[in-house]
Amino acid sequence: MAFCPLKAFLRGGAPRLSSPRPALGSLVHGRVCNLAFRAASRPSRARAVATACVAAPATELRTGKPKREEVMNGSPENNVSDYIYEKMGMDLHRQPSHPIGIIKQAIYDFFEARNPGMFKTFDDRYPIVTTRANFDEVLVPADHISRSPNDTYYVDASTVLRCHTSAHQAETLRSGQPAFLVTGDVYRRDSIDATHYPVFHQMEGVRVFSEPEWVAAGVPGAQLAEKDLKDALEGLAKHLFGEVECRWIDAYFPFTEPSFELEIFFKGKWLEVLGCGVMEQVILDGNYKPGHKAWAFGLGLERLAMVLFDVPDIRLFWSNDDRFLKQFRAGDLSARFKPYSKFPSCYKDMAFWVSPQFSENNLCELVRNIGGDLVEEVTCIDTFTNKKTGKTSNCYRIVYRSMERSLTDEEINALQDDVRKQVAEVLKVELR
Ligand code: PHE
Repeated sequence: MAFCPLKAFLRGGAPRLSSPRPALGSLVHGRVCNLAFRAASRPSRARAVATACVAAPATELRTGKPKREEVMNGSPENNVSDYIYEKMGMDLHRQPSHPIGIIKQAIYDFFEARNPGMFKTFDDRYPIVTTRANFDEVLVPADHISRSPNDTYYVDASTVLRCHTSAHQAETLRSGQPAFLVTGDVYRRDSIDATHYPVFHQMEGVRVFSEPEWVAAGVPGAQLAEKDLKDALEGLAKHLFGEVECRWIDAYFPFTEPSFELEIFFKGKWLEVLGCGVMEQVILDGNYKPGHKAWAFGLGLERLAMVLFDVPDIRLFWSNDDRFLKQFRAGDLSARFKPYSKFPSCYKDMAFWVSPQFSENNLCELVRNIGGDLVEEVTCIDTFTNKKTGKTSNCYRIVYRSMERSLTDEEINALQDDVRKQVAEVLKVELR
């Protein structure tokens, strides 16, 4: 495969936590953490801290499936598609025998056994949140890449589909909860392949410590928080994956300091399983009683489920096919996915001169809107720049495959014709 700088940037440059597949170098999503919450460069703390100190208005906590008019509201900033809206309220994490629900429950069970009665669980928080909750309250700097409409679904200028469950940290602390687990669907614009899907599920964990606890432990508060965090998460990894080796990698997130990623050695490879750290003090002080310390973690349920249950393609989690769903039972972590006959794939290549405003995420979104879950992968397979004109041409390969049936040539040709037409019209690129 030819080197594609665009893809290299997306994959390597902005790794995202909590995506299901391992990254280049470290492990992310290929990238685990597109979000670039793990940004390559650390933003200046002064700027990051300022936004958290402004008291947020009290908001009522909503639940349930949002109404279509609320999500697709015609606002100029709105970039939510029908395809995305249809996924809202599916609540895979609330289905006890779905692999995503099974993992969620296994994590709840682990924390309940470790600290009986301590963690309050929430799994129905409304997925539409303010930019303040999603970004400002967790100190994501104003110019951070994750705020771009290229990466995040905006409902309007100040409202988004949450791109991480960290959006609920501050409000849950404000409601007085000292220890909680929040599970929900999260939304990110992204490229398309077997481990990326624009909707996936995360769990956020937070535990607050008070002074008597660290005095009793005979260590400073931050040290107690870090130790308890690491003990808890290593215990969780072993609860899910058996006697695996664990290692801690230094990381960066705007909302924790210090920050870490946990990796486990599983089936011969180091895999990143989550991001975490000691909560930035300004978040805790601004939303909870002063004089406390806390830890926080965030993990991607698809990633864990794909590794644990041997699920090879993230689209399978959204399948209604009994051949998939019947392989899993509530409470059973021992299931291993047995592939049923894979239907043949079919690919189409498409080359065009890119325009300055071209973005790969926009291409993926467009292809997804036309082909839905029949689109297995979109990859840049070649790129070159014409030295005379300075124009760059990219060639993309779109792989189509159904998880449920054989596709016909006519069907794929019709989809691809539509893709070509819309790519030229909507993305304003010149097809070759
Ligand atoms: N919100 C982070 C992400 O989605 C994960 C995280 C949560 C990291 C809490 C640290 C603490 O990438």
